[in-house]
Amino acid sequence: MTNRILVLYGSYRSDRMGIRLAQFALDRLRRRGDGVELIDAKAVGLPMLDRMYKEYPANEAPAALEKLAGQIRDADGFVFITGEYNWGVQPGLKNLTDHFLEEWFWRPAAIASYSAGRLSGARSASAWHGTLSEMGMVVVSSTVAVGPIAHSLSEDGAPIGEGGKALEQAFKRFADDLMWWVEAAKAQRQRRAPPY
Ligand SMILES: Cc1cc2nc3c(=O)[nH]c(=O)nc-3n(C[C@H](O)[C@H](O)[C@H](O)COP(=O)(O)O)c2cc1C
Repeated sequence: MTNRILVLYGSYRSDRMGIRLAQFALDRLRRRGDGVELIDAKAVGLPMLDRMYKEYPANEAPAALEKLAGQIRDADGFVFITGEYNWGVQPGLKNLTDHFLEEWFWRPAAIASYSAGRLSGARSASAWHGTLSEMGMVVVSSTVAVGPIAHSLSEDGAPIGEGGKALEQAFKRFADDLMWWVEAAKAQRQRRAPPY
C-alpha cells in the first residue's frame, strides 16, 4: 500500500542548508515505495500570510493556498524538516503551517531537526512538537537530529562522515515509526469517520 507523505521545509535563506536534509528524507522515503512530495515554503513563495486558508470564502483563496490545502488534505502523514533560529522555529515554515488547521487533522507527523552545531536543532524540534500537536497531528516519538549539518550531508543530500552514518542508521527506525502510525491512522479513518 502506497502512503502519501509530505516533507515540509521552510528556510528562505539564500545559502540554506536544511534543503540537504529535505532531499535525504525524500530520497529515503521514496526508496521505501511511498509517494513523497516536497513542500518547500520558499519555492511556493508565500508572503507573510494575513488570513488563514479557511477564512477565505470558498474558491477565493489564493491559488498557492488552495493547492497546499489539497496537498495537505490528501496526505497520509507529514515529515517536518526543522532548522533552528535563536532557539526557535523558522518563520517561513511556521507561516505556512499556521495558516491551515483542519487540513492537518487526524494524521501523524514526524520531526527531523538540524543545525550548524552539535545540538542539531533540538530546541526547535521541541517547539514544533507542541505546535504540531496543537494543530491536530499525532507526533511520533522517533526523531532524527542532524548536526553539524555541513559535516553530515553533502550538497546533494548524501550522508557523509560519522554524522551521515548516524543519520542513515537512525532514519530507518524514524521512518518505520512514522509509517506504522500512518497506516494505523489510515485504517482507522476508513473504519470510522473522525469525530469532528
Ligand atoms: C538567524 C539565525 C539564527 C540561528 N540560531 C541558531 C540557534 O539558535 N541554534 C543553532 O544551533 N543554530 C542557529 N543558527 C545556525 C543554523 O543552525 C544554520 O545557519 C542552519 O544552516 C540554518 O538553516 P537553513 O540553512 O536551512 O536556513 C542560526 C542561524 C541563523 C541564520
